[in-house]
Amino acid sequence: MKPQTAPLIVRTALREAFAQLRAAGVSSHTLAAELLLMHALGRDRTWLYAHPEEAIPDSAAHLFASLLARRAAGEPTQHLTGKQEFWSLEFEVTPDVLIPRPETEHVIEVALDRLAVREIRAGRKQTFSGEGLQIADVGTGSGCIAIVLAKELPGATVYATDISSAALAVACRNAARHSVSDRIHLVEANLLDGDSLLTPLFDLIVSNPPYIGRREAATLMREVRDHEPEVALYGGEEGYEIYAELIAQAGAKLKPGGVLVLELGHNSLPAVQPLLDAPTWSNVGVTNDLGGIPRVIAAERL
Ligand SMILES: C[S@@+](CC[C@H](N)C(=O)[O-])C[C@H]1O[C@@H](n2cnc3c(N)ncnc32)[C@H](O)[C@@H]1O
Repeated sequence: MKPQTAPLIVRTALREAFAQLRAAGVSSHTLAAELLLMHALGRDRTWLYAHPEEAIPDSAAHLFASLLARRAAGEPTQHLTGKQEFWSLEFEVTPDVLIPRPETEHVIEVALDRLAVREIRAGRKQTFSGEGLQIADVGTGSGCIAIVLAKELPGATVYATDISSAALAVACRNAARHSVSDRIHLVEANLLDGDSLLTPLFDLIVSNPPYIGRREAATLMREVRDHEPEVALYGGEEGYEIYAELIAQAGAKLKPGGVLVLELGHNSLPAVQPLLDAPTWSNVGVTNDLGGIPRVIAAERL
């Protein structure tokens, strides 16, 4: 008779997974293991910790083992679960798009604040739906910025551009998932250079452009360097090269009084701030992220 093996239970599976991922040098290994087990079981975290003695079905145990092996080899957790939360909304992510980062939420905060200030200055009411606003999100990737702005400003129309058609396909699915497809135009374009962008003049242009320097590639975590799209990461040899053209195009496409909000790389500010010194721009402001790094620069078109 074959010896009977005890079924794998939740508590043991988690304990062994923590050890496996820690030994593989995975950062936030506890969270990664929990997310992968939640994904394999189709359960949430509350369920996991409320049912530590629950036996894991064989099929889920096999799936969990293969996900752990892939995570230990460097694949990002979000590529394995296919999702990432941003602004408390769930976004589909694939290897074709940058995984939305928490610091990018500062871009949204600054954009909404700047629009609110414009409304107050114009003597209009402070809670507004963005009625009639034309917004562009340059380099939309998963669509996270464009979609959050469309949800926060239900009266606005958003143009979301990307040079990658594969990224736009993901953004398209995310727009549908969040029921804003009718107000988001997805445009394949080099920055704001597309044919369908000839007419619109924008009230707000936002962008989280690729800003890592190729010469920094060796310092990146393997999850980023080996698994996220190069076109989403690198802005040139130094990283800040894309800002000059982006700011020039934004200057030509914003209405007078229109707002530009850009995410910055950790060392981009000295190269980017002088580009906004030109007489075209006023009210330049810089916002730090929670780590104290200048993360967002904003300005108004005169
Ligand atoms: C850093 S990712 C940002 C993605 C998303 N907006 C976010 O914040 O998570 C930069 C995006 O810009 C796109 N991109 C790179 N070069 C571009 C260009 N010249 N014109 C338009 N999009 C570009 C990339 O494909 C990528 O989706």
